[in-house]
Amino acid sequence: EPVDNAPAIVIGSGYGGAVAALRLGQAGIRTLVLEMGRLWNTPGSDGKVFCSTAAPDQRSMWFRTRTEAPLSTFLWLDVVNKDISPYPGVLDRVHFADMSVYVGRGVGGGSLVNGGMAVTPLPSYFSEQFPTVDAGEMYGTYFPRARSMLGVNTVDPAWFESTEWYRFTRISRKHAQRTGLRTTFVPNVYDFGYMQREAAGTATRSALGQEVIYGNNHGKRSLDKTYLASALGTGNVTINTMERVRAVHRAADGTYVLTADRIDTTGTVVETKEYGCTYLFLAGGSIGTTELLVRARETGTLPALDASVGTGWGTNGNVMLGRANHLWDTVGANQSTMPVMGIDDWANTANPVFAEIAPLPTGLEHWVSLYLAITKNPQRASFSYDAGTDKVGLGWTAAQSAVSVAMAKKLFDRINLANATIYRYDLFGSSSKAFADDFTYHPLGGCVLGKATDDYGRVKGYPKLYVTDGSLVPGSIGVNPFVTITALAERTMARVLVEDTAP
Ligand code: FDA
Repeated sequence: EPVDNAPAIVIGSGYGGAVAALRLGQAGIRTLVLEMGRLWNTPGSDGKVFCSTAAPDQRSMWFRTRTEAPLSTFLWLDVVNKDISPYPGVLDRVHFADMSVYVGRGVGGGSLVNGGMAVTPLPSYFSEQFPTVDAGEMYGTYFPRARSMLGVNTVDPAWFESTEWYRFTRISRKHAQRTGLRTTFVPNVYDFGYMQREAAGTATRSALGQEVIYGNNHGKRSLDKTYLASALGTGNVTINTMERVRAVHRAADGTYVLTADRIDTTGTVVETKEYGCTYLFLAGGSIGTTELLVRARETGTLPALDASVGTGWGTNGNVMLGRANHLWDTVGANQSTMPVMGIDDWANTANPVFAEIAPLPTGLEHWVSLYLAITKNPQRASFSYDAGTDKVGLGWTAAQSAVSVAMAKKLFDRINLANATIYRYDLFGSSSKAFADDFTYHPLGGCVLGKATDDYGRVKGYPKLYVTDGSLVPGSIGVNPFVTITALAERTMARVLVEDTAP
């Protein structure tokens, strides 16, 4: 017997979950959101909710004894990562055999830890990836709706040109231009007015205080300040934190029954709960949602799930790399953590790449230009269930990552040639590693729209079961993905609330 019931349950409070919760709440449907991470609203003993990348503590990572930052070394020295005590920290790195995936944990999901880059994909590539979705409707209605709800804004160009905090970006732009490459400003959800006050010394530093992947204490319009605040404001939405859903089945009457473990701050399961609902929205992110569904199909709790559940996964072609600049090309000791520019070579059909000019804020001049390249890697992988361990694995291989590296290398070899520069080999652990290809920030796919679901995210074979998160995106979208995830969720909710929830 379920101990608690709500008409609608949403699993996860990232982009897909936040959109679902708000639109359900506004429609007058009582909704319960289950989130495995914390609510990040209580200051620690230092008066801050989040810790910075310069001084990570237990708040940084999800149950670790040592941090696992994307840049593991500097001058090959193990100076980046720090010992911490296990705690439900805000950033997780989920390890699979040959790929690990960074994800946010907490109310707001990835919005708590990401770089805030709010990029709308090229219409041509969106249509290539989503041939059955009406692009006119997306670009006319749902992308604008997502951007306005997320609080997207752009850096003031005059301030950008003059501030020391974006010198690192201007240097990378100069090198791209010298190569004949196009650069483009990228919008962000970080409040640039606030950032200018940080620079002026009239506001507490956050983006200018080395805060980002372990959370921002100020300035960032994360989902807890936008969609989720509005969702709670409807009076119909409740969020239960530190509750991890581990199983889903469908009862004889067609309702869904969930099993959730409630944990304490040591990670101990203190209670196992059952919830029942009529409408179930899966929004645990590409990894979280796909894992739940693959396990449900393979253990027979949702046996009719389509064979394509667990397929079509990709890394958005992510590769990180650094270039070593000449001594006269200083990048500055002071760097904002919010990226505002990309090198856009996506139109180069022989080798499409969009590379974010990334910060490396250490408080010291280091002459490194850092990039997160998004390549058009066509490789995809599948998830599989191991009954012996009850674990869901991911079949992505090192050879598949090598495809992303080759594409990134082609672009950055050109940039190095034009500027007589070289790669940095000291940033990613081993002595000869110039490209970090063993992690992604952009996990996409697993329950692809139109394959595992219908064209609106309704899961095939299971009425009133929906996917609204990054698992709908078929492995690649060519730009940073959260605007696309948000807009697709808006489109799903608009359709579902009209067609599926009528009494
Ligand atoms: P998301 O991962 O946001 O949310 C899922 C939530 O569900 C999490 O809070 C999780 O804890 C919870 N959950 C999962 N399984 C659960 C279960 N079984 N029970 C209960 N809760 C569960 N994108 C971008 O567009 N611009 C950018 O600048 C960046 N930068 C960036 C930096 C870093 C460091 C990271 C890690 C990621 C980015 N991204 C990004 C990617 C972006 O953050 C990501 O694409 C979205 O957060 C994905 O949104 P979803 O709604 O799919 O899931």
